[in-house]
Amino acid sequence: MQKIIDIIGKEVREAFEAKGYDTKYGVVTLSNRPDLCQYQCNGALAAAKAYKKAPLAIAEEVAQILKMSESFEKIEAAAPGFINIILKNEFLSGYVKQLSPENQFGCEKTQAPKTIVIDYGGANVAKPLHVGHLRPAIIGESIKRIDRFLGHNVIGDVHLGDWGLQIGLIMMKIKLEQPDLVYFQADYQGEYPSEAPFTISELEQIYPAASAYSKENEEFREAAKAATVELQNGNPGYRALWQHILNVSIEDLKKNYDNLLVDFDLWKKESDAQGYIPGMVEYLKQNNYARISEGALVVDVKEETDTKEMPPCMILKSDGGTLYNTTDLATMVERMELFNPDEILYVVDKRQELYFETVFRCAKKTVLVPEETKLTFLGFGTMNGKDGKPFKTRDGGVMRLENLIQNISNAVLDKILENRDMDRKDAEAIAKKVGLAALKYGDLSNQASKDYIFDLERFISFEGNTGPYLLYTIVRIKSIIQKYGKELAAADALQPGKTQSEVDLMLEAAKFNEVIEAAGNEYAPHKICQYLYGLANAFNSFYHENKILAEEDKEKQKSWISLITLIKGILETGIDLLGFEAPERM
Ligand code: ARG
Repeated sequence: MQKIIDIIGKEVREAFEAKGYDTKYGVVTLSNRPDLCQYQCNGALAAAKAYKKAPLAIAEEVAQILKMSESFEKIEAAAPGFINIILKNEFLSGYVKQLSPENQFGCEKTQAPKTIVIDYGGANVAKPLHVGHLRPAIIGESIKRIDRFLGHNVIGDVHLGDWGLQIGLIMMKIKLEQPDLVYFQADYQGEYPSEAPFTISELEQIYPAASAYSKENEEFREAAKAATVELQNGNPGYRALWQHILNVSIEDLKKNYDNLLVDFDLWKKESDAQGYIPGMVEYLKQNNYARISEGALVVDVKEETDTKEMPPCMILKSDGGTLYNTTDLATMVERMELFNPDEILYVVDKRQELYFETVFRCAKKTVLVPEETKLTFLGFGTMNGKDGKPFKTRDGGVMRLENLIQNISNAVLDKILENRDMDRKDAEAIAKKVGLAALKYGDLSNQASKDYIFDLERFISFEGNTGPYLLYTIVRIKSIIQKYGKELAAADALQPGKTQSEVDLMLEAAKFNEVIEAAGNEYAPHKICQYLYGLANAFNSFYHENKILAEEDKEKQKSWISLITLIKGILETGIDLLGFEAPERM
């Protein structure tokens, strides 16, 4: 469906043309003075320079034409050269009438779907999920849902870190405590046990202990490094133990991501890309993309226009070992081979930006990734505590994600039980949904690249720019519809708006397609947050101004029910794109 702003824009462009001006001046934007008009065109100001005429004169000429249109209630040329536009209520309601769940409220799926891989988990096996993993999960999940809604073929990949030193550390710590396990017997010939020698909670204790121990004991640290290399070289006992670490850890990660309503299509691991490394290295050497520098294999990525230092991209260390970027490049090769994507999007901490720039340049220059495949880095900022420093537990430790989520749910639960007489079980289920909305909205309402402050009190508030406020609005609409008895479709019942708040609400509804498209193109879920907040405000003004259930004019009441049915659908779709859902009541 055409966007309403494009329909208006077309008329305005034609009016410019009719008066002998270039159509490019007929750009329409939302009004920045909603008290004066709904849409505006500032093109006369620019045209004035090109045609050496007074801007107001041009605006008046164009306005003359626009006044004849069926679409507009009021057209005004205003000094110094604005054209202010107010739509006819019939035109607006005619547009809004066409919005339905079937056509995704006017945001239809693209005719030209792209294949997009989104790399957005980044969790590391055997390390507990902590708040640092929250942002990629929340932002990546939302972008995945938005792109899919727009009709693209999206593949979300968790890209687990399972191939680094943490595995060596864990294995050597287990060995310290249980040296007799078969995994550590070099000459062991039998089958390895199918049961893991640890539970998830034991495993989660092992890593921090091993990591701390490695800092004070150099011998242990060296042993862990050696064990990591041996694992990578295929030591069967280590491989078997590593497999247990993976299984136990992945099961737990899945549970955690499930709780967050974060769902990956692929559970790929860094280790899965290792098989692509030898062929890739061969290719880079054969085609003279790589050179040897002090024993290491590197690809130069510096460009003439660079003003900053761009170190070469190292492919192999002088001892032949591979690096984080070797794995990332090999993963690109793997993704090209498996999916041939049009785009690979990385949702990763913005502190890795230079790293990714180096890797992207290397991939493009060596054509490991072809020219036409877009590589995008979406860097996110840090979630800080109220002191402005990275979020920590009260005693200064790293906050586990599970605990953070639990804290939020508990705070919401207290609030619900304080204010409502409700069965505790029901209240708990509601608190879980509301808590998740608070957490996700608190995060997504900020531009991804910015740092933000985790403010529990504010995030869980039922008023203001928060997730719970959106849920509260949805629940309010559900309750009105329930009392009325049924939902109605706008196509069947919507009438032109009669009051200001009704018209404002329709204007908001009409913008949905434009906002979602922009959010997709700009990787900007915060635009959806902004929009939904405005929509919820518009609904609440409408609700306070009109007594929907007591209305005696039945046609008018039907129109209103159809309007709020539509608004409910848009709000529910919107929060789904953000990655959370509303309870039935709260
Ligand atoms: N596991 C990494 C970390 O904890 C993040 C992975 C990001 N994705 C990637 N393709 N490198 O820092």
